[in-house]
Amino acid sequence: MNLFSREQYILVTGASSGIGRACAMLCNARGASVIACGRNEARLREAQAKCASPAHWHNETKDLLAELESLPQWVAALRQKYGRLWGLIHAAGEGRLDSIACFELAEAKRHHDLNFFAPMQLARGFADRRNFLKGGAMLFLSSASAVYPEKGHCVYGAAKAALATAMKSVSQEMAAKGLRVHCLAPGWIRTPMLDAATKSMGESYAAREEGRYPLGFGEPEDVAEMAVFLLSEKARWITGQNFVLGGGCY
Ligand SMILES: NC(=O)c1ccc[n+]([C@@H]2O[C@H](COP(=O)([O-])OP(=O)(O)OC[C@H]3O[C@@H](n4cnc5c(N)ncnc54)[C@H](OP(=O)(O)O)[C@@H]3O)[C@@H](O)[C@H]2O)c1
Repeated sequence: MNLFSREQYILVTGASSGIGRACAMLCNARGASVIACGRNEARLREAQAKCASPAHWHNETKDLLAELESLPQWVAALRQKYGRLWGLIHAAGEGRLDSIACFELAEAKRHHDLNFFAPMQLARGFADRRNFLKGGAMLFLSSASAVYPEKGHCVYGAAKAALATAMKSVSQEMAAKGLRVHCLAPGWIRTPMLDAATKSMGESYAAREEGRYPLGFGEPEDVAEMAVFLLSEKARWITGQNFVLGGGCY
C-alpha cells in the first residue's frame, strides 16, 4: 500500500545500516522519494540497488560529526536540490556502555555531539519553514534506555533522554506551523549495534538480555513500520511522543 507520493522526499540518516536502512527501504517501498545519508557510500549504493525503486533513492554521503556546525545549512542545501522535504528520519547514532568509574569527559562529549547535538542541528535546519512541507514530520531514534536506564547507560541513555525531552518541547513549538515531531525508543534490535555490544560484553550478555524480552529482540523492520506510519498522513493527529518499542520487556 502506498502511503506517500514520489513528491514527498524523506531524508533518512543512518540509511547505510540497521534501523535507518530498514526505514529508508520501507519509505521507498511505500512510495516516497528517499534521500539516504550515511558515511559509507558503498553500503548506501548496495541498499539503493536492493530498494523497490532505485530511481527514487538519492545518496548523500555525510559525516554528521565532522560537519556538526553546518548541518542546518546542509538541510537548506538539500531543499534547494530536491525541493521542500516531507520528512526526516534521524537514525544515525552510536551505542555505548559505560560505568561511572570509567567516565571520560572528552569521549562523553563526542558521544553527546553525535547522539544529541547532531539531531538538534538537523532539527534546526528542518524546522525552518522554507525547508519542510506542511503536514510533514521529523522522527528521531531515541532509545528505551532514555526511559528505563540500566547499568551502563549513564552516557548513552542520558543523551537519548535529552533528545526525547528536547523533541517533546520542539513538537509544541512546531505544531501550529504544521510540522509533527516524533521519537521512537526501541529496546534491543538486531543490528550491527547489537553485534558490537555482544562482541564487547560476550555472548552470555546477549543471551541474558534476550531472555528479558517476551517477544525476543526486535528486527529493524519492526521499527521501520512504526516510523513510516508516523511520517505518513495517517498519523496526522500524533505528535510529541517518545514511543517505547520493547517486545514486551518494557
Ligand atoms: N540497535 C538497537 O538495539 C537500538 C536500540 C535503541 C536505539 N537505537 C538507536 O537507533 C539508531 C540506529 O541504530 P542501529 O542499531 O541501526 O545502528 P547501526 O546499524 O550501527 O547503524 C548506525 C548508522 O549510523 C550512521 N552513523 C554513525 N555515525 C555517523 C556519523 N558521524 N555521521 C553519519 N552517520 C553516522 C552509520 O553510518 P555508516 O554505516 O555510513 O558509518 C550507520 O548508518 C541509533 O541512534 C541507535 O542509538 C538502536
